[in-house]
Amino acid sequence: MNFKEFGRTGKKISAMGIGTWDIGSDIDKNVESIKYAIENGINFIDTAEMYGTEPVVARAIRSYSRSDLFIATKVWPDHFQHDSVIKACNDSLNKLQTEYIDLYQLHWPSKSVPISETMKAMEELMDQGKIHHIGISNFTLEQTKMAMESMKKYEIVSNQIEYNIVTRDIERSGLYTFCKNNKIAMIAYSPLSHGKILSQSKLVDQLAKMAIPYDATPSQMALAWLINRDDVFPIPKASNKDHMKEDIASADIKIKTEDMKKMDEIESKFYVAPIASRQSSR
Ligand SMILES: NC(=O)c1ccc[n+]([C@@H]2O[C@H](COP(=O)([O-])OP(=O)(O)OC[C@H]3O[C@@H](n4cnc5c(N)ncnc54)[C@H](OP(=O)(O)O)[C@@H]3O)[C@@H](O)[C@H]2O)c1
Repeated sequence: MNFKEFGRTGKKISAMGIGTWDIGSDIDKNVESIKYAIENGINFIDTAEMYGTEPVVARAIRSYSRSDLFIATKVWPDHFQHDSVIKACNDSLNKLQTEYIDLYQLHWPSKSVPISETMKAMEELMDQGKIHHIGISNFTLEQTKMAMESMKKYEIVSNQIEYNIVTRDIERSGLYTFCKNNKIAMIAYSPLSHGKILSQSKLVDQLAKMAIPYDATPSQMALAWLINRDDVFPIPKASNKDHMKEDIASADIKIKTEDMKKMDEIESKFYVAPIASRQSSR
């Protein structure tokens, strides 16, 4: 498994994580799937209080050494007031059956609670050792800068955003370059565009042709395009074990620079707008 440095944390984690949103109701199957990922080199698992999958993650990780894993979860904007953040974190710790969260993320920016109030609570959680790093999610460039300015003692180490080969809005907004320059890790959610990349036959054909020299599949090429960027960590979701197996194998594919450039051209033909542009911030 390819391991990469995660932002300014000084930690190396698997170049790909796994997402746990919308994994379906078969808990035993989901637990087995996460365990399969861990046994095949993945140590980064992403969940959220809103997904309802923290107890599933708890069951999957309990037989592994906690210090080998990097567990990320998120607090929902309804809980961004100071005391609610503290309570939400304690609830997540209970559901995850763990003493600490490696990465605690603000799930979406809030329109109603000042970021300074939320970050004050996040920094207290850092002081108490309940969380080891602070991240944000779905924050625009301006919102990221404001969040950084609100920090008193600690740094924001990551921004989780929608980013994939057909949705590259973060490059045009300047967020991508800003994160790179500030060594903020980018966790790429919906790395397969929520499955849309694999439902467009012309795009699949194009990726299949590019995949031949790498002995790879179209979905692996789409994931490897992200993994081959230094500060980007895709978190695909796969309920199907064969999909999971295929996705994990993409972490070790090294795409040549000239092929990365050819793949850069794909978005202009197959663009999909990000969820964030279709929803208002909370
Ligand atoms: N921070 C946020 O606001 C936010 C928003 C959205 C998502 N996320 C995170 O990102 C994770 C992933 O995003 P996502 O679930 O939207 O989409 P995704 O990972 O881009 O796509 C998931 C879809 O692709 C399919 N798939 C996965 N691997 C495949 C393969 N090798 N071949 C064929 N199909 C494959 C899955 O099918 P099967 O399930 O049948 O295997 C599923 O239908 C989520 O689980 C969540 O953790 C975060």
